Amino acid sequence: MRSSLALALLPLAQAINIISSNDDGWAEANIRSIFNALSSAGHSVVLSAPAENQSGSGSRDETPSARTEPCEFDSCTAGASYGTNETDTRLNWVNSYPVTSIKHGIDTISPQFFNGLPDLAVSGPNVGNNLGITVYFSGTVGAASYAAGTGGVPAIAFSGESGSPTAWNAEVPAYSTIYAELAAKVVDRVVAAGSPYLPEDVWLNVNFPAVDDTCTSADDFKFVLSRIFAAVPLITDDDVESCGSTRLPMESSVVRTDGCYVSISVGTSDKTDADATLQGDILQKLGDFLTCLP
Ligand SMILES: *[C@@H]1O[C@H](CO)[C@@H](O)[C@H](O)[C@H]1NC(C)=O
Ligand SMILES: *[C@@H]1O[C@H](CO)[C@@H](O)[C@H](O)[C@H]1NC(C)=O
Repeated sequence: MRSSLALALLPLAQAINIISSNDDGWAEANIRSIFNALSSAGHSVVLSAPAENQSGSGSRDETPSARTEPCEFDSCTAGASYGTNETDTRLNWVNSYPVTSIKHGIDTISPQFFNGLPDLAVSGPNVGNNLGITVYFSGTVGAASYAAGTGGVPAIAFSGESGSPTAWNAEVPAYSTIYAELAAKVVDRVVAAGSPYLPEDVWLNVNFPAVDDTCTSADDFKFVLSRIFAAVPLITDDDVESCGSTRLPMESSVVRTDGCYVSISVGTSDKTDADATLQGDILQKLGDFLTCLP
């Protein structure tokens, strides 16, 4: 009894089981960077992502078919519908869409590694931001909103403004490492706030601003609670009260504000803004991790 109490008091970050997908493909640098960052933080991560670029495929979902060509960046040989890295079976590809990939990861691969459902799903970091209306077309968001809804797994979508499609075996760009570190910070904070990690049916839309001359390391970035869509005056209900207002800033304004601000919006699986109560749950969970815009 004494030892379990002592353990409970240790300020150790909790290690959880995470399924990871994206829409830029399993061999794109960003998904490998987040795999490495979350694994280094002690989490058990399994990747299940499309065999090739499926950017813009939204929530499409189709039974995988046999590949007639190698995977993107020549990362697999043609022939199969599913595949895994020869030496690391945590790295998996699915010849279909982001939703199909994460579904396969949750339903089929997770039970093998985790003995059940993953604790959390992460999607991205997407090459390019997914702000506002873009959430409807993004496969990265499609995968996260599927996980949070039908999949029954709390989910976070990450997207970053900087960069261009890069192969997993090329030199890792600085922005890719920084976005992965920022994603790991968000994950660790969400996990530290305790289970359930997110309310039912909720996913977070996290967008990173550019890595540039002023935002050069993960420590330079701050996190702001935001909303996905513009509120309609007199029609849209109030947001949770935060930073002295009952209207959260739009995520597009947050990432465009000078000073390295990351937007964190609270979405529901139908890809709309969550209500004030659900936003309030996230505000409480993230606490002093969040800051106000100047
Ligand atoms: C497969 O994993 C090995 C070991 O981690 C790595 O060296 C190789 O580049 C990976 N290949 C692909 C396509 O993921
Ligand atoms: C995927 O396709 C989109 C749209 O055609 C393009 O903008 C993006 O750069 C591509 N990404 C990769 C990883 O090839």
